[in-house]
Amino acid sequence: MQIIRSVNEMQEMVLSLRKENKTIGFVPTMGFFHEGHLSLMEQANKDNDIVITSIFVNPLQFGPSEDYEQYPRDEESDIKQAEKTGVDIVFIPDTRQMYPKKMTIALDVTDRVHVLCGRSRPGHFQGVVTVLAKLFNIVQPNKVYFGRKDAQQAAVVDALINDLNFPIELVALPTVREKDGLAKSSRNVNLRNAEREEAPWIYKALEQGRQLVVDGEKNPDIVVKEVLDTIDNHTNGKIDYVELLSYPELQTVSAIDQQVILASAVYFNEARLIDNLLFDQN
Ligand code: PAJ
Repeated sequence: MQIIRSVNEMQEMVLSLRKENKTIGFVPTMGFFHEGHLSLMEQANKDNDIVITSIFVNPLQFGPSEDYEQYPRDEESDIKQAEKTGVDIVFIPDTRQMYPKKMTIALDVTDRVHVLCGRSRPGHFQGVVTVLAKLFNIVQPNKVYFGRKDAQQAAVVDALINDLNFPIELVALPTVREKDGLAKSSRNVNLRNAEREEAPWIYKALEQGRQLVVDGEKNPDIVVKEVLDTIDNHTNGKIDYVELLSYPELQTVSAIDQQVILASAVYFNEARLIDNLLFDQN
């Protein structure tokens, strides 16, 4: 496995892989790997000749009062895990490599961001698509792999690829969970013990909401209220949102009669956790 830290070197490598007609699967990450990240790399390994993963904590996608500084990092352990998972190249640029000077061009996201995390994290998805456009141009992958855990991000990346005609296929994969249902996240290490005990209630609450729909409930407000009450009753976290929207368009729905996302974000002391379920009325 190779470790590449410079953009130029990465581009030269990609050029030679492309000449050899190798297919490239790409998994962009911010590091501090867990099984969620590794599941994307495993799938990329099955689908492509070469797997490239990037580790870059992108300052552009963190708001001024967010956790850029506290975001967990462990490069050495990430490199070992990537190697074990069959990754061929780990691309680890630093901030000067990615943003050598103040950007003159940055991308805007005009739809799919006025809800969910886009509403509570203004500018976040602009930062995400800007770094991804750069990474897609540097790595030139055939396929990119994203987790459904960040379902709004996957919906925005789907639009990025389509709207800007990147010749790339998006593969979105299911959320990997702890045994108790908590969605795996690099941020889970920032939970206090009591919070860690409560956190699985986010998933349980979403499941309860889905169960209402399975039992015939079509009114989104009733489903959302059930989830809000359950999280409120079982955690000390501060609920950022619980929303039920069409997916991937992320529009409000008056009745549940299509594929929807039921999603929540909850603030604990040092971590904001997100989770979601995708389903239709069947
Ligand atoms: P990061 O949070 O490191 O996540 C990298 C990828 O892993 C994303 O596609 C995310 O959805 C996926 N992932 C995280 N937890 C998961 C889980 N429990 N199950 C399945 N997949 C999971 O998302 C980012 O980084 C950044 O925004 C990035 C796209 C790299 C742009 O900076």
